[in-house]
Amino acid sequence: MTIISSRIPLIYTPKVLELFRNPKNLGRLEDATVVAQAGSPACGDVISIYLKVNDKGVIEKATFESYGCAANIAAASILTEMVKGKTLKEAWEITWEDVTKELGGLPAIKYHCSILAVGALKRAIRKYYSEVKKSLPPWIPKDLSREEKQALEVEELIERMYRKLSAGE
Ligand code: FES
Repeated sequence: MTIISSRIPLIYTPKVLELFRNPKNLGRLEDATVVAQAGSPACGDVISIYLKVNDKGVIEKATFESYGCAANIAAASILTEMVKGKTLKEAWEITWEDVTKELGGLPAIKYHCSILAVGALKRAIRKYYSEVKKSLPPWIPKDLSREEKQALEVEELIERMYRKLSAGE
């Protein structure tokens, strides 16, 4: 579901269009070490990030599944490219603005698509340490990071709008 509809066609960069048409790293990763989601299953904008992490904390493989829009697919695709070969700590530093920049920009109305992709990544990294390693490293705050909070805000916004639309308001 698109959060805000517009009669004006959105202008996407060639990179967004290329990754939407031919997404890299699309699909479930059967041997993933960790998987996390962001988005709202209620309305269909959901992204899953799969990571395969080795003993040294390096991301060997990263894939995604997305039921979001073109911008979400492109953001998730480029994000999985960006994290491959990086340590989890390096991947943790990636912001949605970095992803948006790599895409050559996004229409402002589509920033949340990038926020959801990075939110899913951060959740996967936090989950890896809390559930697999059973302890958080010092560079992961106990409270949610900026990107995790932003993903939550987007999810709440999507849910609110979906409820309004469902109620026919
Ligand atoms: Fe919701 Fe892009 S419009 S993920």
